[in-house]
Amino acid sequence: MRKTVIAGNWKMNMTPKAAGEFIRALAPEVKGKDKCDIVLCVPFVDIATAAEAAKGTNIKIGAQNVHFEEKGAFTGEISAQMLLEAGAEYVIVGHSERRQYFGETDATVNLRTKAALAAGLKVILCLGEVKEQRLSGITDEVVAMQTKLDLAGITEEQLKNVIIAYEPVWAIGTGLTATPEQADETCGVIRKTIAAIYSEKAADGIVIQYGGSMNDGNAAELLAKANVDGGLIGGASLKTDKFTAIVDAANK
Ligand code: PGA
Repeated sequence: MRKTVIAGNWKMNMTPKAAGEFIRALAPEVKGKDKCDIVLCVPFVDIATAAEAAKGTNIKIGAQNVHFEEKGAFTGEISAQMLLEAGAEYVIVGHSERRQYFGETDATVNLRTKAALAAGLKVILCLGEVKEQRLSGITDEVVAMQTKLDLAGITEEQLKNVIIAYEPVWAIGTGLTATPEQADETCGVIRKTIAAIYSEKAADGIVIQYGGSMNDGNAAELLAKANVDGGLIGGASLKTDKFTAIVDAANK
């Protein structure tokens, strides 16, 4: 059985101080709600404070990106080892905002995923189609191709530390959500692709989240779908009450 994973992606929001306060307020609300894993992916500078505040709770801390080299002359970049030492267990790789605004490609997403896994981080690998691709009817091909390219060279053993977040780009931060049927269908295409690359066992085991305007109002319906094993939540992860409601939906 796959465990549901509810992950928040704070993006460029919350200072270290605000992160500590948020987690101290959230912890009692989600205490004992263990039918899902709970992760907050925070800005780099918040990681240490967030990890400290999350100690002894069921909240885990992640980062939002990682560089693929171990060290060296890469001004502004952060290595996997740095993230681990700061207290991160997870890292988001390949978010569409990184692909759209910061020039990331499937090739760099693949390198980052490999580096993170090699260092011992768990990866939340984001992929998904843009609006024109959905309208042209090529969503299945796009997500299958991204899955193959982003996971190239990653072993079935390493795949146990990968979560895939299916995030239709047209649904991120727009208030538009994929219907539960669309989310289920496309997560299913990704699962079939995993079966083709690896095995049925790997496909059965991999956690595939939906992301894109998931909130307290639509989470229950989305999470009820067989192929949707959790959520990657942006906007609604910035309010403790909304995020708690999503955790509650995953604990029904
Ligand atoms: P959103 O963001 O929930 O604000 O749409 C999701 C994401 O970007 O991961």
